[in-house]
Amino acid sequence: MKKAIVIFGSTGNLMYKKLIPALDKIIQKRLVDEDFRIFAVARKQITIDEFIDIAKDKVKDHIDWAKFKSHLEYILFDIKNVEDYRTLKNKLNKDGYDDISVYLAVPPKLFPVIAKGVSQSKLVEKNNHHKRIVFEKPFGEDLESAKDINRELWKCFDENQIYRIDHYLGKEMIQNILVVRFANIIFENSWNHQAIRSITILSKESEGVMSRGNYYDKIGALKDMLQSHLLQMAALILMDKPQDFSSEAIKDAKVKALKNLAFDEKKLILGQYNGYRDAEKVDDNSQTETFVYAEASVKDQAWEGVPIHFVTGKKLEEKRSEIIVHFHEKNDLGDYFPKTKPQEDKLIIKVSPNEGVEFQFSVKEPGLGNNIQKASLDYCHNCKAMENTPEAYERLLIDLLNNQRTLFTRWDEIETTWKLIDELKGHHSKLYHYDSYQDIINVLKEKGVLVNDL
Ligand SMILES: NC(=O)c1ccc[n+]([C@@H]2O[C@H](COP(=O)([O-])OP(=O)(O)OC[C@H]3O[C@@H](n4cnc5c(N)ncnc54)[C@H](OP(=O)(O)O)[C@@H]3O)[C@@H](O)[C@H]2O)c1
Repeated sequence: MKKAIVIFGSTGNLMYKKLIPALDKIIQKRLVDEDFRIFAVARKQITIDEFIDIAKDKVKDHIDWAKFKSHLEYILFDIKNVEDYRTLKNKLNKDGYDDISVYLAVPPKLFPVIAKGVSQSKLVEKNNHHKRIVFEKPFGEDLESAKDINRELWKCFDENQIYRIDHYLGKEMIQNILVVRFANIIFENSWNHQAIRSITILSKESEGVMSRGNYYDKIGALKDMLQSHLLQMAALILMDKPQDFSSEAIKDAKVKALKNLAFDEKKLILGQYNGYRDAEKVDDNSQTETFVYAEASVKDQAWEGVPIHFVTGKKLEEKRSEIIVHFHEKNDLGDYFPKTKPQEDKLIIKVSPNEGVEFQFSVKEPGLGNNIQKASLDYCHNCKAMENTPEAYERLLIDLLNNQRTLFTRWDEIETTWKLIDELKGHHSKLYHYDSYQDIINVLKEKGVLVNDL
């Protein structure tokens, strides 16, 4: 089948930052055929050469522009005009493209109008599984708006044709969670409250909001990070072993885990970094949170009494995304093996920028004494790769083109996560202002929150 991808919003930040570099890699690695085409759809009246010149200026990665151009067509388009959709559909038909992915890299408010045009023109016709449509995150701004969008989409497309992106799912170490958990009997058998004391899921950023104030100020960290990336990580960490490793079975297990999560609104701490309100297109009196600490429990006997800590924020002291599983301390070794300090075993799944798995465990100190000390097995995933591990968008685009849905979110995952966030949002929390990460740590300590690996 001849494959094509149609990208709406092809003059936007996502196109330059992620989609062009990922598509270039896919072409370079010959993961698509020579006749694969990218139809870049936009409203700017420019030629393909002008499009490439603008892109050259904006894209930071090294691109083989000549090769990229050979796969590219630039299409001037009015998203409100159904004739433009029909013209594009006829062109694709005439050129023999019968496997089509339509990618909406546009603000979410445009999802319904574009989806309608795509459906009315039969660019993506319902139930044809060689035609699919992709939506970027955020999918809605709360449960109601997400439901509104989804209701419209289901009129036009089958759920199996709808691909909702959470790019964290394309990251190597997020996919590795399932392998670490279910391919290793030592973890599989100790994945419960008897062995595990708590779990921390964190994603810290050192940068501020930069030029994305227009988007971010309406959304904030709870909706931008917790609703999507952090809850997706939680689902993969907490889910039971799926019936099989099919896309649907994995999603069933994730949804069950998400439905069992309950946030404790008394343990919600929100912050905003000083200087945020000076950023471009941010309200002078903005109450938007740029930092979130939240704590949840799991309504499942296997996880009884195990708190799940979520931490995310901007303008922190480092960029780091990790999942840290804290095991209970063993205390029954008596005086023969004394402990000089608390010795807790941990499994750390490093998501970014380092990728890997570290297991910290207890050993006897070398020498004549019998003290216990910490040792670590530290596997570096991106060091092992012959070249850089694939970027999330490269993986997601390849899966999309091959109709592989596991790394895309199903509607009930979105619905469940929005329910959780809406409930948390409904609770009015004080907004702490911070200059440094230490300020945040001080607030967390004041509130009695465990801070040892944040
Ligand atoms: N940028 C990221 O890193 C990132 C990360 C994750 C998710 N996302 C999501 O990806 C989507 C796109 O983000 P972005 O950062 O690329 O946004 P952006 O830089 O604002 O670009 C939006 C694109 O949509 C087009 N557009 C906007 N309004 C339009 C209209 N009324 N009619 C036709 N075209 C219109 C723009 O065209 P013009 O150039 O003509 O204005 C541009 O091509 C959003 O849903 C965002 O939440 C982005």
